[in-house]
Amino acid sequence: MTVIFSGVQPSGDAPTLGNYLGAFKQFAAFQAENDCIYCVVDQHAITVKQDPKLLKERVRRLAAIYLAVGIDPDKSILFIQSEVPAHAQAAWMLQCIVSVGELERMTQYKDKSDGKARVNAALLTYPPLMVADILLYNTNVVPVGDDQKQHIELTRDLAERFNKQYKNVLTVPEISTPKQGARIMSLQEPTRKMSKSDENKKATIFLTDTPAQITKKN
Ligand code: TYM
Repeated sequence: MTVIFSGVQPSGDAPTLGNYLGAFKQFAAFQAENDCIYCVVDQHAITVKQDPKLLKERVRRLAAIYLAVGIDPDKSILFIQSEVPAHAQAAWMLQCIVSVGELERMTQYKDKSDGKARVNAALLTYPPLMVADILLYNTNVVPVGDDQKQHIELTRDLAERFNKQYKNVLTVPEISTPKQGARIMSLQEPTRKMSKSDENKKATIFLTDTPAQITKKN
């Protein structure tokens, strides 16, 4: 069986139309004939400051959205990243084989650190945790939107590097992006991707918005 793995951060009010078309829709479709593992990646969410109570609520809300978009717990494994300590352990091992230069070249790091006087170390080491998520399960295919392409390329590079340096034990995964909807743009700034953490709520269609709320955002 082909192993499918992917994750979504419990950040922002709710997942967006971009998350649905880029990721969730693929997750549901893969369930029929594959071993699917889907994750609420709460440790990735704490790379930016969080209110602990609100984060707990958002984790539950995201789990509910996973079910609402068609993830069937009888067919797929659905879990919370922080409940499996192996993710942080494997991330440390991967930090030991990745270079600072490789991490500094990640476009998401460049975007999020741009112009900031102080940047959390975890913003830089975010990708090795994502790589760990994927490699821990011998993942064959990672369904994601376009914005995660560079992270999946890094995953492939680090798996190959680890296999060469130590032992050929890690599966090198492939990326899956949808033909349509791999990059849904902001309603307000069409050069930026739609994001669940955009401060301007008019820029984003949330999956929990009512039709009337969506119409008003036009
Ligand atoms: P996150 O939480 O930002 O987004 C979750 C998924 O939604 C996709 N996506 C989009 N697709 C199309 N248009 C958009 N505007 C749009 N915005 C988001 C993302 O590509 C993603 O597939 N680092 C990841 C979470 C992660 C992960 C992993 C993913 C952690 N570990 C392991 C896959 C495998 C992230 O921040 O996704």
